[in-house]
Amino acid sequence: MAKVKTAYYCQSCGHESVKWLGKCPNCNSWNTFVEERNTKLSTAHQGWAAQNGQQSQPILIQDISVSEEPRIKLPGIELNRVLGGGLVAGALTLISGEPGIGKSTLLLQLALKLKNKKLLYISGEESEQQIKLRAARISEPFSNLYIYTETSLDQIFLKLTQLQPQLVIIDSIQTIFSDKIESSPGSISQIRECTAELLKYAKTTQVPVIIVGHITKDGSIAGPKVLEHMVDTVLQFEGDSNHLHRIVRSLKNRFGSTNEIGIFEMQTSGLKEVTNPSEILLAQRDEQLSGTTIAATMEGLRPLLIETQALVSSAVYGTPQRTSTGFDTRRLNLLLAVLEKRNGFKLGTKDVFINIAGGLKVEDPAIDLAMVCSILSSNEDIPVNPRYCFAAEVGLSGEIRPVPKLELRIQEAEKMQFEKIFVSKYNIKGLDKTKYKGIKVEPVARIEEVIEKVFA
Ligand code: TYD
Ligand code: MG
Repeated sequence: MAKVKTAYYCQSCGHESVKWLGKCPNCNSWNTFVEERNTKLSTAHQGWAAQNGQQSQPILIQDISVSEEPRIKLPGIELNRVLGGGLVAGALTLISGEPGIGKSTLLLQLALKLKNKKLLYISGEESEQQIKLRAARISEPFSNLYIYTETSLDQIFLKLTQLQPQLVIIDSIQTIFSDKIESSPGSISQIRECTAELLKYAKTTQVPVIIVGHITKDGSIAGPKVLEHMVDTVLQFEGDSNHLHRIVRSLKNRFGSTNEIGIFEMQTSGLKEVTNPSEILLAQRDEQLSGTTIAATMEGLRPLLIETQALVSSAVYGTPQRTSTGFDTRRLNLLLAVLEKRNGFKLGTKDVFINIAGGLKVEDPAIDLAMVCSILSSNEDIPVNPRYCFAAEVGLSGEIRPVPKLELRIQEAEKMQFEKIFVSKYNIKGLDKTKYKGIKVEPVARIEEVIEKVFA
């Protein structure tokens, strides 16, 4: 009898090892190695390439034909923007996110709204009845949508050949298995194999395929990280399941820019697009409260006004706490050190809590100045004028640094009826300040200046 070959795979990044390891040398995660059989059953397997026997040949670039309508426009504007103008023919797109965030809802909704195309939604997680119930909740008239509940990749390919759909959705890649690989569905080798086969299918037929991939915080289920380099586009679906807002972020896009986001709101009848996010993020503020300010940030090409909140209080324990939600803690420590060293605020003995409203995560450094003002406002217990907003980075010596795309930020702030926007003095060269009628652009160079102008 042939000896069964096994290897250990990191379930987070797919690193292979002959023996079990406690810590993955590739991605540094702990306890992620699982033994998997890697015997290939050459007889039983079919797969897309084997079923179709197509072999690729070298071809002159001028002889390659490109189809008339290379992109399928999706319903709505948010997803199209994130994808860079729609789904590209033959593209393999991965939508990843934590369980329960709304991936199935988003895709079913998309499938129901895409009326003039023949679609196949393959689910390995829910029954036909459950999917129908969900569709009823979304309350969209039914369209040319086929539902297929199957987990075997060979069966799926057989049906794909018969049905010839124009868009395929697979929910989720963790439930699909190929007979070619002996390990269980959801293991790294299965995920890798199934994705590779689906990629071949998408490329040869030019049918776009969307796959769903679950991620968990502890990485105990095979993470879609291994897939990221195989697929064309990775969309991450994020948000707090306690909050209503969901954000689709493009992490990788072979056919468009990354760093684009689409914002949705989870309602009882599915996900609704949020076309003017600033309005919603700023909705609940009438009273003047200390510790909150507004930052004019950019998410991709879109300006977004975001409320930053800080709470500074005397530390109860010996070691003061620094907690931040939606903002990098290291960046927070840096800003606190700048305020302490350059401006003499004694924050070293204080607890500092930071929050970005709406469950958002912000990486744009232009949020720095608003954050600094929130911290100072809470520390001194003086509210900042609610009609002020901020767009600048803070440097290590307390200087106010310029940020890109300033005009877009100012326009958005003006649209939202802010009176004044604080920007870096080094940012306004060539800026036509007379263009902005409703808002005053206030250039500042140092934190002291900001304190004078904001808290005077
Ligand atoms: P789901 O799409 O099943 O998540 P995933 O596929 O990412 O695991 O979303 C599940 C959550 O969405 C669930 O908690 C219920 C909620 N939901 C609504 O609030 N409104 C709706 O119309 C639907 C269909 C789901
Ligand atoms: Mg689901």
